[in-house]
Amino acid sequence: MRWSTASIEEADMTSENEAEDRSWRVRSSIAVITIVVVAALLGFVVLPVVQGRSAGVDAFTAICRALGLEAGSPAVRQPLSATRAEPVSKVAWTGDVIARLHDPNEAKAADLAANNCASCHGADGVSPDPQFPHMAGQSAFAIYKQLHDFKNGARGNEIMASVVEALDDQQMADIAAYYAAFTKGALDPTTPATDDPAIVRLVERGITDRGLPACASCHGAHAGGPVETPTLAGQRHEYLVAQLRAFAKGERRNDIYHRMRDIAKKLTDTEIEELAAYYAGIGLYQRKQ
Ligand code: HEC
Ligand code: HEC
Repeated sequence: MRWSTASIEEADMTSENEAEDRSWRVRSSIAVITIVVVAALLGFVVLPVVQGRSAGVDAFTAICRALGLEAGSPAVRQPLSATRAEPVSKVAWTGDVIARLHDPNEAKAADLAANNCASCHGADGVSPDPQFPHMAGQSAFAIYKQLHDFKNGARGNEIMASVVEALDDQQMADIAAYYAAFTKGALDPTTPATDDPAIVRLVERGITDRGLPACASCHGAHAGGPVETPTLAGQRHEYLVAQLRAFAKGERRNDIYHRMRDIAKKLTDTEIEELAAYYAGIGLYQRKQ
């Protein structure tokens, strides 16, 4: 068979075109794949890791969050504890709650307290161990609010969360009123106490320059603080220190309108120790609160 020169040339042209076509196809595929890979790397790795680093989220968590494997944004730090974002406390001072706190079912409350609370807070609300706060003489409103907050997670504490899990609102109100009715225990003379004038001034008058209000304006016996303000007089020193530190660090965040967090973070460590000593040792200096 004889090929004309023209048809040979034509055949050469076609295979050249095909070769060129193929190389373009390869190149465009490579381009598309590269764009996809670069976009995925940017979206799922580079950006989450960079944003995560400035928000204090580690690289692995940031990538998991970007991929949707874990809840949360890579660019936002999640709360340290199990507590939720504000507004945290779900307590509402309804007429029912207030009526219940004034007229508790004492027999039921005594039973509940003996079975669920006495081992740590004492049968009469006087705790046998420094790590547990006293309940005796605490305000019923304060106890009720804390129980409620432990239950819905606004205040994070594993021990108390498991204790209150099975209690309903009525039971919590009954126990709160029950414990509040006991008189405070005798003060242990080894309790740290202070009458340092600087601390007494902070308690009674506050420090205007530092934006610190007088503690006594809310925590005093007949002060006009919020209804849930706890009484601090004669409370365990260790407990008061721990709570002020927890407020300062934002680990405890169930205080409405940040009242205590804003105050505690302005206090020095020494002031926290001394304020706790002031309140824990109130009876030792015959102060009235
Ligand atoms: C196993 C020990 C344990 C038992 C049982 C227990 N508590 Fe507590 N409770 C604690 C500890 C520990 C804390 C301090 C939590 C913290 O540091 O945040 C606490 C804190 C509290 C507070 C907060 C006090 C405050 O002034 O803010 C209240 C109120 C309370 N408990 C009531 C109760 C009641 C009522 C019961 C029974 C239904 C109970 N607790 C059973 C260990 C216990
Ligand atoms: C504006 C009112 C207000 C002022 C001022 C105030 N507190 Fe409080 N404080 C509260 C309230 C309300 C709570 C209860 C927070 C909650 O809902 O859990 C609280 C809780 C506390 C607790 C935790 C007690 C417990 O039983 O868990 C401590 C400790 C405390 N305050 C110390 C202080 C000290 C010390 C000062 C002064 C430097 C101060 N507070 C000033 C309103 C106030």
